[in-house]
Amino acid sequence: MKNTENEIIGEANLNSPLRTRARSYTNVKDLGNLQDAVKEALEIKKNRFAYKHIGENKTLLMVFFNSSLRTRLSTQKAGMNLGMNTMVLDINQGAWKLETERGVVMDGDKPEHILEAIPVMASYCDVIGVRAFAQFEDKAFDYQETIINQFIEHSGKPVFSMEGATSHPLQAFADLITIEEYKDKPRPKVVLTWAPHPRALPQAVPNSFADFMNEADVDFVITHPEGYELAPQFVRGARVEYDQMKAFEGADFVYAKNWAAFQDPNYGKILSKDMNWTVSSRQMAVTNDARFMHCLPVRRNMIVTDEVIEGPRSIVIPEAANREISAQVVIKRLLSPSNLPEGEAL
Ligand code: CP
Repeated sequence: MKNTENEIIGEANLNSPLRTRARSYTNVKDLGNLQDAVKEALEIKKNRFAYKHIGENKTLLMVFFNSSLRTRLSTQKAGMNLGMNTMVLDINQGAWKLETERGVVMDGDKPEHILEAIPVMASYCDVIGVRAFAQFEDKAFDYQETIINQFIEHSGKPVFSMEGATSHPLQAFADLITIEEYKDKPRPKVVLTWAPHPRALPQAVPNSFADFMNEADVDFVITHPEGYELAPQFVRGARVEYDQMKAFEGADFVYAKNWAAFQDPNYGKILSKDMNWTVSSRQMAVTNDARFMHCLPVRRNMIVTDEVIEGPRSIVIPEAANREISAQVVIKRLLSPSNLPEGEAL
């Protein structure tokens, strides 16, 4: 378990009381037994108001450093299903711009430091969700999850990732729930494919998808052009196939996503816009009538053709709908850790 309740972390160089480091959700390991988590999700989905008492008189704060449609609505809905009050703060849109690094002389356009802002925000709520994408300026800053970890360390409240610099575990948990619902064999073949995009996108979604698929009972294959290798801690033992058509053969699920290069010296760069990688009926024809998945938002006819995303095997809408369920399991567990089976992580 990454975090234990009541682990004192000190004063964080602030003239403030000692804080406690609470539980957090930033990766697949924080869910503990994955089968139990999926089972819990499917049970909650049958009656999503069964735990309305858990969040009574509790407040969920959602802090966004970046835009969102699904995460914002589904997580807010999950909090409401649990009886919580919910508050949303958009940093950079109506809030003070926050300085996130220590030691900076704050003579620029950021009037508040995150080390004051976090405990202030935490004083108004019981659970905090944070969205803070990779900035592609400093790989170490991104891959240390500097912003979310500051919330974990300095809020004293349970914190969960609503997409960090390196991972999007609410999305990947929803993806796994969706695969469980739609699979028609015990161990389906699941292919994660890179696809072209006009802008440089973070690796958070493919990283987390790989993280979850490596823990799930699936035959997992990753395919991308050379140069787009993901971080080894997420790929782990997964098969990497550079020939997209070969990777798609016999696939039961195709998960498309763009990401920018991870490897140095190209971190954050676009290396290819090869439209041959756009998922179309040409590639889908060699699959086992695969279901098509994408986290959304998706750029049509860059990532996937109209025909495939609108086709009968596309499950992008139920996949997005399951974001409410994944968020609800996570928030419920953060609110009621004492109800967890012994040894469970979150
Ligand atoms: N998939 C996802 O996280 O969507 P949003 O960016 O709209 O929240």
